[in-house]
Amino acid sequence: MTVPDRVRIHPSPLAGDVLVPGDKSLSHRALMVPALCGGPVAVAGLAAGADVLATAAALRALGVRVTLERDGIDLAGEVEGDLGGPGPGADGGPVAVDCGNSGTSLRLLAGLAAGAGRAVRLDGDASLRRRPVDRVAAPLRAAGVVVEARDDRLPPLVVRPAGRPRAVSWDSPVASAQVKSAVLLCALGADAPSVVRAPAPSRDHTERLLRHAGIAVDGGPTPDGREEVTIAPGRPRLDHVEVARDPSAAAFWHVAAACGAGRVVTPDLCLNEGRTGAIDALRAMGADVRVTAAGDRTGEPAGTVTVAPGSLTGAVVAGTTVVRALDELPVLALAGAMSDGGLEVRDAAELRHKESDRIRGVVALLAAVGMRADERPDGFLVPGGQRPGGGRVVTDGDHRIAMTAALAGALGTAPVEVAGFATVASSYPGFLADLERLGGRVEVLDG
Ligand code: S3P
Repeated sequence: MTVPDRVRIHPSPLAGDVLVPGDKSLSHRALMVPALCGGPVAVAGLAAGADVLATAAALRALGVRVTLERDGIDLAGEVEGDLGGPGPGADGGPVAVDCGNSGTSLRLLAGLAAGAGRAVRLDGDASLRRRPVDRVAAPLRAAGVVVEARDDRLPPLVVRPAGRPRAVSWDSPVASAQVKSAVLLCALGADAPSVVRAPAPSRDHTERLLRHAGIAVDGGPTPDGREEVTIAPGRPRLDHVEVARDPSAAAFWHVAAACGAGRVVTPDLCLNEGRTGAIDALRAMGADVRVTAAGDRTGEPAGTVTVAPGSLTGAVVAGTTVVRALDELPVLALAGAMSDGGLEVRDAAELRHKESDRIRGVVALLAAVGMRADERPDGFLVPGGQRPGGGRVVTDGDHRIAMTAALAGALGTAPVEVAGFATVASSYPGFLADLERLGGRVEVLDG
């Protein structure tokens, strides 16, 4: 599905049911962990976005058999690989891998390759080349892996394992699931258990999938609000992995319902506690949110989230909720502007290292559609009582800024033009089709 690069979104009420794509975080892991299993693993429900396809292509370059076919809006198929055995990169000559726009591919593949003894050179597009990799390079070096990066902190990142990695006891300075996952995936190939600590808990998808695959992974959030995870080395064993739908994609429709005129139902979402911060924030703002649990999906809780229009007060998102709502903060800013009391986001300096500097990007987006917001070093303050008034937003290669801008067009009083919209293909190629299905009015300006 190709996504147009210039669109104009017209105001219109949105309502209805929408099946969002498979969860992006889970989809990456649903490809990488099976690649270590040494036998065929059936996978289903994967996101069909470019980020996940970049991970699939990287694994193929490393000699893993990855067959994926369209299954409705999802991808399903089989992964069969023995990354810990012989194959491309095992002789020390790095395999070139293009991660495109995907930070998750780059950071997790670095750890996976390091643990499996495969040399890789990980690179990506202009946005990815601006994002830090020193946070991943440092623990891999501690494990005895040779790692090179541009200016020692930016992609391309070259990972050259020298035999089996050493077990590490690593204190990450950032609460990042990507860093934690890179350490855990590398530790699978070590000769003794490893420990990774962080200043706060982050999404635990890697831990859950590895545990499901028979790996001894212990720990998690600590009583003092930090996180500590211990992992024993080993080969994961899986028959199949089924991925729940993406709560970060659904957040656009949740905000549409909370600020708009109609009810939106999003079935089958991943409801991992590490991902429900935006739902909590909308509730704290007074939104009418109903969650119906539907059971377990390969070690992850899943269920339906229904949001109905309501009067929104203000909210503060800070502390541990930030990591739990990390990718949803741009669209929550829009909800905050349209609420009575506004939204304050603190402790979110990590937003500066996403697909774009999302603190600056959110403030610029709101200004471009005629709304006020103040930039802070670690977040932003959005006054309430505002409504998007139309304008033109340039996305700076950031899919979540692009989709938030489109929603501002639907929820506002005048059309919003979005330039650089094609970046949405990285996570949600069907976004415009879903917007139209819910009643949105889309004008394609390409060509
Ligand atoms: C992700 C972790 C988050 C998130 C990203 C996906 C993951 O980043 O922003 O979109 O799949 O592990 P952090 O590494 O900052 O937690």
